[in-house]
Amino acid sequence: MKNNSKNFGSSDTEQEGNELRKLFLDGIRDLYWAETRLTKSLPTMAQAATSRGLTKAFETHLSETEEHVVRLERVFKLLDETAQGKKCQAMIGLVEEADEIIKSTKDGSLVRDCGLILAAQKVEHYEIASYGTLRTLAEILGYEEVADILQTTLNEEEEADSKLTQLAQSHINVAAAQE
Ligand SMILES: [Fe+2]
Repeated sequence: MKNNSKNFGSSDTEQEGNELRKLFLDGIRDLYWAETRLTKSLPTMAQAATSRGLTKAFETHLSETEEHVVRLERVFKLLDETAQGKKCQAMIGLVEEADEIIKSTKDGSLVRDCGLILAAQKVEHYEIASYGTLRTLAEILGYEEVADILQTTLNEEEEADSKLTQLAQSHINVAAAQE
């Protein structure tokens, strides 16, 4: 799939196409690292959660996240590139925030669940922004199959995000305010 960027013809635009491809690939490497890192944090978050519903949501998202990693490996293959991550400072910060929330809230409290939802939604929004932009870049570069793969994961990230909103609205926030 290398160099099949249909939207770039003349040498100037070809150069730009190559630079755009590089930017795109860097973004994929960043996400690959971030998703892999997340598979290590989600079990901790699931275990730390108080309500069964939130634990279950984290567990479900863990299996999805493992699948997201596999999908990105498929993307690397389609791009004819090695599957290699690039340290994502944003994800490091986001999972540190989740760790801090666990440390600063009481075991078995719903306040902790509110904090975990806050941290998890920040993660989801980071991923939604990344997948959305990279999907668009894939379309611009003419990587249609890659764009479809990224869209599939984007849909799951959006579903995970609204699931967290539902959990927060349904009972956790109300109960936490009464603790
Ligand atoms: Fe993901």
